[in-house]
Amino acid sequence: MCGIVGYIGNNEKKSILINGLRELEYRGYDSAGISVLAEGNLNIFKAVGKIINLERKCESFSSSGFGVGIGHTRWATHGKPTETNAHPHFGKFSNVVHNGIIENYQSIKDMLIKKGYNFISQTDTEVIVHLFESMLESSITPLEAFTKTINELKGAYAILLITQKAPNEIFYAKNGSPLIIGKGQDGIYFSSSDTPLIGLATEVCYLKDGDFGVMDLDGFAKLGDIKELSGDKLSSQKDGFTFFMEKEIYEQHKVLLETMMGRVGDDGFFLEELSNIDLSNIKSIRLCACGTSYHAALAGSYMLERIAKISTKVEIASEFRYKEPILDENELFISISQSGETADTLEAVKLAKKAKLKTISICNVDNSSIVRESDASLLTRAGIEKGVASTKAFATQVMVLWILSCYLAQKRFSFAEVKGQVQIMLNAIKLTEVNKKMHEKIKRLSRRYLHGHGFFFIGRDIFYPLALEGALKLKEISYLHAEGYPSGEMKHGPIALADSGLFCVALMPKNLMYDKIKSNVEELSARDAMICALSSEYYEGCDDWIEVCDSSHYMEEFFSMMIALQIFALEIAIRLGNDVDMPRNLAKSVTVE
Ligand code: G6P
Repeated sequence: MCGIVGYIGNNEKKSILINGLRELEYRGYDSAGISVLAEGNLNIFKAVGKIINLERKCESFSSSGFGVGIGHTRWATHGKPTETNAHPHFGKFSNVVHNGIIENYQSIKDMLIKKGYNFISQTDTEVIVHLFESMLESSITPLEAFTKTINELKGAYAILLITQKAPNEIFYAKNGSPLIIGKGQDGIYFSSSDTPLIGLATEVCYLKDGDFGVMDLDGFAKLGDIKELSGDKLSSQKDGFTFFMEKEIYEQHKVLLETMMGRVGDDGFFLEELSNIDLSNIKSIRLCACGTSYHAALAGSYMLERIAKISTKVEIASEFRYKEPILDENELFISISQSGETADTLEAVKLAKKAKLKTISICNVDNSSIVRESDASLLTRAGIEKGVASTKAFATQVMVLWILSCYLAQKRFSFAEVKGQVQIMLNAIKLTEVNKKMHEKIKRLSRRYLHGHGFFFIGRDIFYPLALEGALKLKEISYLHAEGYPSGEMKHGPIALADSGLFCVALMPKNLMYDKIKSNVEELSARDAMICALSSEYYEGCDDWIEVCDSSHYMEEFFSMMIALQIFALEIAIRLGNDVDMPRNLAKSVTVE
């Protein structure tokens, strides 16, 4: 989704902006642009496609001395991904970048057109810059004009604006979309997320909804709630892997241990983060999320009911928001989001809070909007995930939900009830260490799965959400049609699609209803579907076999099958020549509804 950067200082502005945009690439984008205001001149560059195109456009440009600059990666919402629609948008003497959606842009545009302003793009963003310039006509200072502008806007936004009328300053506003201001030795930085700031800024301020103002080189200290920025760049590089996604698959066993650290011991489950929440009256749980996080939520519902024995509902955030849900104060609301910025999930949390539910978020990004909105948060500790198709974030979400289920069971019953889970967790993590032989085998197999008319991933019980996630991974990066289905449900319709052109990826855990799923697979095999079985035992009815480690608990099988499914999607996408880390049309952080 769109990303924003900004800089005030003496260093080369072009390279700071472009490097910053590169760090935001993982969010997904289809065009990019920067503008620099130095020595009184405004220079603007835009390009469709990758950042390299933008770099080529401004190859011969450089700016020396003090100046300000803003940059943007755009993920099209209003209007096609063209150069004209790319940000920054410009008026006569000002430029603006914006992340989010201005809901009332049409009425503002109509009003400005009547006043004689010309619009060249199809975007909602362009109204901001013209509105600002029109407000200047009746204002004493640019800040007054900017304030009046912001007061007119409805919707979600993070905005940076520069103008020749105030050449040393950047005007900013935040409502609903993330925006951070950082200060370093060489100036002031703006960004939609921490990543571009690492190594440049040492202190940061995470703006709150409703914050807006103007910033110059000396203004940072006046911001409230300044935090130190830690972190190192290494974790966000590829460590010798060709793709971030592959690196992230391989590091899951490490980050899962991080997730457990301090929370799981021989003498109990500990979730310090929840110490300020009274969970004694909780009668049921509602989990809410989007995309991969929704699949983690579904998996969580099986564990919460089975281990903690608490009735649990799962909701897709975009559906939950508008269904007029009946909410009970004794229900615990748990949102799940790797980014912590997903607009629908964030709004769902606000809705639950309004209905006086206790809210917990399971999130990978500290200080993100969802974390700040929730009463308490359980961080997943997966580290920065750059591949748009989520892998390690999913694994750690499931792990947190597993730990939470045990923690609640311990509170309701006793630690003795769930003590056995500790070793199973450790075994499961061990199995996420990628077995090179299995990877090689899947790589070879993948060539047989490039055609056909579609995939069904099937599983029962908690392997059903895993089947959904396996199908989502494949479709996200291979662009092949894939669906996840509960195995027992295939005969109620989907089996009509079974023929020799249908691929069926069957999750066959030895420790959970093996015979039942075997019968379901046989039904498909009898109709000529091509069966790829994931199991520890060879199943003679399959066409291909992906062998997972023999284990004694189905959760161990869950985590080893998760790895196999991720690699399966990865290798098919590589063979198809797709951009694995930045698949078409997708964004890492979806900040519009
Ligand atoms: C986007 C991403 C998905 C992610 C979903 C929810 O669509 O591409 O990978 O699962 O958003 O994001 P969240 O940050 O809330 O987990």
